[in-house]
Amino acid sequence: MIRIAEKTDVPALAKLASAPDVWCDPPEELEGDFAGLLASEKDLVAVAEKEGRIIGFANIRLRTDYVAGTKSSPVAYLEGIAVAEEFRGKGTARALFEFCQSWAKEKGCTEFGSDCLITNEASYAFHMALGFKEIERTVHFAKKIEE
Ligand SMILES: CC(C)(COP(=O)(O)OP(=O)(O)OC[C@H]1O[C@@H](n2cnc3c(N)ncnc32)[C@H](O)[C@@H]1OP(=O)(O)O)[C@@H](O)C(=O)NCCC(=O)NCCS
Repeated sequence: MIRIAEKTDVPALAKLASAPDVWCDPPEELEGDFAGLLASEKDLVAVAEKEGRIIGFANIRLRTDYVAGTKSSPVAYLEGIAVAEEFRGKGTARALFEFCQSWAKEKGCTEFGSDCLITNEASYAFHMALGFKEIERTVHFAKKIEE
């Protein structure tokens, strides 16, 4: 079952998102992040639930800043999506995405944006299977400001 996340889902969401191949931050930090997302009107957190267990989630945000490859505003942006390892390959992420897409449509969005690491082959394949097109490849830089 796919549904909108509730406050009581926050610990399970944080645990799922703390996995090394998801957001990798400590669960206690992620609990605060998810609580913030649930309170945000620009965000949707959808969960996949199976026999009372949260097995996946997706977070999309209505973005009004520039989103590569899009022309409209707001754009629905797939900020994160993950399925517990033992439940992958069964259509859960697709179902989560379709739920998010319906929400985005209701909010007036006509385009989706997303990104993933070049090395994340599963995520790349997922995006292509869902109908995304590759727009560009970028390299991120950072530098300390000299004192
Ligand atoms: C990416 C991820 C969310 C996919 O979840 P999933 O539930 O296994 O995906 P689904 O079973 O719903 O697959 C949806 C489509 O993507 C494709 N796909 C998903 N994982 C794939 C993989 N590893 N290799 C090839 N194709 C894949 C499927 O073939 C499927 O296409 P179809 O519906 O046309 O058959 C999951 O692998 C995951 O949680 N990865 C770790 C977190 C992550 O990297 N998230 C994305 C960050 S940008």
